[in-house]
Amino acid sequence: MCGIVGFTGEHQAAPILLDGLSRLEYRGYDSAGLAVRDGEKQPEVIRAKGRLKVLAEKTDNGVAVLGTCGIGHTRWATHGEPSVTNSHPHMSDDGNVIAVHNGIIENYQELKDKLIRKGYVFHSETDTEVAVKLVDYYYKKYEGTPVDAINHAMVRIRGSYALAILFQEYPEEIYVARKDSPMILGISDGESYIASDVPAILKYTRNVYYIGNLEMARVRKGEITFYNLDGEEIQKELKTIEWDAEAAEKAGFEHFMMKEIYEQPKAVADTLNSVLKNGKIDLSETGITEEIIREISQIYIIACGSAYHVGTAAQYVLEDLTGIPVRVEFASEFRYRKPIMDPKGLAMVISQSGETADSLAALREAKELGVRTVGIINVVGSSIAREADHVFYTLAGPEISVATTKAYSTQLMAVYALALQFALVREKITEEQYEKYIAELQTIPEKIQKILEDKERLQWFAAKQANARDVFFIGRGIDYAISMEGSLKMKEVSYIHSEAYAAGELKHGTISLIEDGTLVIGVLTQPELYEKTVSNMVECKSRGAYLMGLTSFGNYNIEETADFTVYIPRTDPHFTTSLAVIPLQLIGYYVSVARGLDVDKPRNLAKSVTVE
Ligand code: AGP
Repeated sequence: MCGIVGFTGEHQAAPILLDGLSRLEYRGYDSAGLAVRDGEKQPEVIRAKGRLKVLAEKTDNGVAVLGTCGIGHTRWATHGEPSVTNSHPHMSDDGNVIAVHNGIIENYQELKDKLIRKGYVFHSETDTEVAVKLVDYYYKKYEGTPVDAINHAMVRIRGSYALAILFQEYPEEIYVARKDSPMILGISDGESYIASDVPAILKYTRNVYYIGNLEMARVRKGEITFYNLDGEEIQKELKTIEWDAEAAEKAGFEHFMMKEIYEQPKAVADTLNSVLKNGKIDLSETGITEEIIREISQIYIIACGSAYHVGTAAQYVLEDLTGIPVRVEFASEFRYRKPIMDPKGLAMVISQSGETADSLAALREAKELGVRTVGIINVVGSSIAREADHVFYTLAGPEISVATTKAYSTQLMAVYALALQFALVREKITEEQYEKYIAELQTIPEKIQKILEDKERLQWFAAKQANARDVFFIGRGIDYAISMEGSLKMKEVSYIHSEAYAAGELKHGTISLIEDGTLVIGVLTQPELYEKTVSNMVECKSRGAYLMGLTSFGNYNIEETADFTVYIPRTDPHFTTSLAVIPLQLIGYYVSVARGLDVDKPRNLAKSVTVE
């Protein structure tokens, strides 16, 4: 993970770098550092353990660091504990090469041994220091250009990297290289920017280049030249980012997570409207034709974390509406399982960032096996978006909070749209049913809004549960999929142990954990399964559990059983995930706030998981 930034131009670099890093802190936040160069002088390197604010204080918000060219880094530790010594930037002993890195160098030990034999000394435990010294070694050995040196190093490095490098002999220039870790390059009026993600530079420019895998670039003031692995110059198209800059600010909310929870009605409506033309779903932008839809024999949904939870809900919706068999898998399992895939299958990779290492590797595996792929992706131009055969872009806008909310909700909407279109084309539903389903989907944003307007009760409930030790979320079918996301939201931001269980499974072992006062949240949105799950809730109550029921208005009388009940507006059972998840996001958020935790940046996590 980690976030990297770079700047060269006419303005003072350090404040711009710190500002960029503050928008990337979600990618890692255990230490941070800068290297800034003032003309020909040796760059000043400042590093600090802890949150970015420690570095900001150390540099008077960057004002104390002179120079108009520099690189910066916010770290999520992989090799070596969080410490000043392990923080980036790292440099060669003579300061000839200084770099920041995002990714993992898998053969770092082998390279390190080689460099030690050549006389290099290492100070940190990081793989990055190895990359820096390797580049330095080739630069001196071949006495070529920085591009030649980086090129030689890239051939020898196994793993992933986005590197931004300063060379002593090239003032006001930054060199970059990329393989499997995200990086964009921005340009405007004589200034150039480097970043791991769009929000870091959105304030300064919307004009960006996407650097490809195994490519390098020479970044000068307002001028960027790209090179392939042979060191030959290559041309790139300048693209415009459509996201608006305010979307990456907190806009008066205390936390990004709450702001993003509130953005859900709009994000969900935007995503639906992006494919609705004259009341019908139009997939022409994705390139998925009716012929392709008719041919699909099997759908493989592959994703990680919350995106995987979207997949688990999607499985029920897709199978029920389209009749196509669906299999859902963790990308990290899929990629090493030697999967047997039907060539007429469709691999659906769901990812907000489009950069999750396991999901990207799984996409490549599916392509290798000759299966058609579609990405449901939020970040335009990300690796999965570029490599998938088809892309359905969700319109969540920038999501900053590590805990996903609006991206999850837009992914659900994308899946519903695909399911309805597949069902219509394959004649599993009538035109009339199709129109009814679409009309129902159009009501989802206002129903989400309604839930948000009644959040005080949830805040009260969350405050009461802030000291809970364990929480169990139970449900059947789609309600189980909802439980999984509710449980993840709870544990990742509140640090309270929670588990999601298929309600019928609890009695096969886990029920032994229920004791007096244990909170059990029963999700009850599926009419056919309601009574079954209630029975499982009662089994827990008999063993002392405190019950919360989450159900749809007017459907059932759960209040007789549950100690606390939350109602959501009614919708078609296929789409209840979109509504039921909202109170669960809010409860996770409020418990975290009540416990005084850092909601947007939970410990040990990072937004975009670009390592295995
Ligand atoms: C959930 O809140 C997390 N942020 C995490 O589980 C996330 O959904 C997962 O890492 C997948 O990320 P992606 O959508 O960017 O691939």
